[in-house]
Amino acid sequence: MKTIVTGAAGHLGRLVAAQLVERLAPQDVILVTRHPEALQKFAAGGADVRYGDFDDPASLRDAFAGGQRMLLISTDAVGRRIWQHRDALDAASAAGVGHVVFTSHVNPHGNPIGAFAQELGETEDVLHGSPLAWTVLRFNSFAELQLPTAATAVQNGRLVTNVGGGRIAPVSRQDCAEAAAAVLATDGHAGRTYDISGPEALSARDLASLYTDLSGKAVQLVQLSDTMLTWTLIGIGTPSAAAYSLVAWGRGVREGRFDVVDPAVERLTGHPPASVRDVLAAHHANLLAVG
Ligand SMILES: NC(=O)c1ccc[n+]([C@@H]2O[C@H](COP(=O)([O-])OP(=O)(O)OC[C@H]3O[C@@H](n4cnc5c(N)ncnc54)[C@H](OP(=O)(O)O)[C@@H]3O)[C@@H](O)[C@H]2O)c1
Repeated sequence: MKTIVTGAAGHLGRLVAAQLVERLAPQDVILVTRHPEALQKFAAGGADVRYGDFDDPASLRDAFAGGQRMLLISTDAVGRRIWQHRDALDAASAAGVGHVVFTSHVNPHGNPIGAFAQELGETEDVLHGSPLAWTVLRFNSFAELQLPTAATAVQNGRLVTNVGGGRIAPVSRQDCAEAAAAVLATDGHAGRTYDISGPEALSARDLASLYTDLSGKAVQLVQLSDTMLTWTLIGIGTPSAAAYSLVAWGRGVREGRFDVVDPAVERLTGHPPASVRDVLAAHHANLLAVG
């Protein structure tokens, strides 16, 4: 069975590609990207690397030709993704792809983090209404995204946040990729929605102690209201759109939208997911360097 990965040159796409060429015959792996030159290593290993851009739907006819199963990696073009994803799903149907696996977000509908999650929920709705068989992977926050937060907190000796008592269960991109590859390479996943999370839900207090532990430098927790955090971020020069988006993200955590721990990663991959400690420890030197 020929299996397509869209967005194959992104961080997640490359990790999925590396998994799939091990699980399937490389010539059965079709890697679609706007940057084929970035995937020469996979082409040299026998994978079929093709150009495709959701903003150029005509390019998708050749890009998806012959594929039977497809991983649709949500794009990073927040604000335009619902049209991009709709065009990609239409092109997949037209090309004869039977089954699409889509990368979504935990609790995507009505999430206070806004378009970042909402567009993914809307794409799920489009997929459900399409003639395609589907599987949805709802990712918790990528654990790697804790790295800049951790580095800043260690540098300042303070973790400044508006998440209150909310918890988050970050999952590594590697575990997301392995879960996606397992779903693509095995049967029995049509019509299923999986929450893809890390092994535990952590509060801001847990994260501050983890940063302290890993860096050897005390990190104090500072809880602010949404308004105070907005003004603090804008006051230190954060562009207002980014400040509002960070505050909205914190509100999402506070309201429990990321407090999702699910055994799906272990069931799909055969091993427990990496913890935030594992992911940060792999970058321990960076944390210490900043501290
Ligand atoms: N759960 C989370 O915490 C979280 C965090 C960040 C992002 N995400 C979502 O997960 C996705 C993958 O994450 P990542 O870290 O791998 O992102 P990334 O490295 O920033 O990659 C962006 C992705 O978007 C694709 N893309 C952008 N414009 C496109 C277009 N016009 N047509 C087709 N594909 C397009 C890129 O594909 P090519 O460059 O190969 O064309 C690439 O796969 C993101 O795009 C975002 O939707 C989730």
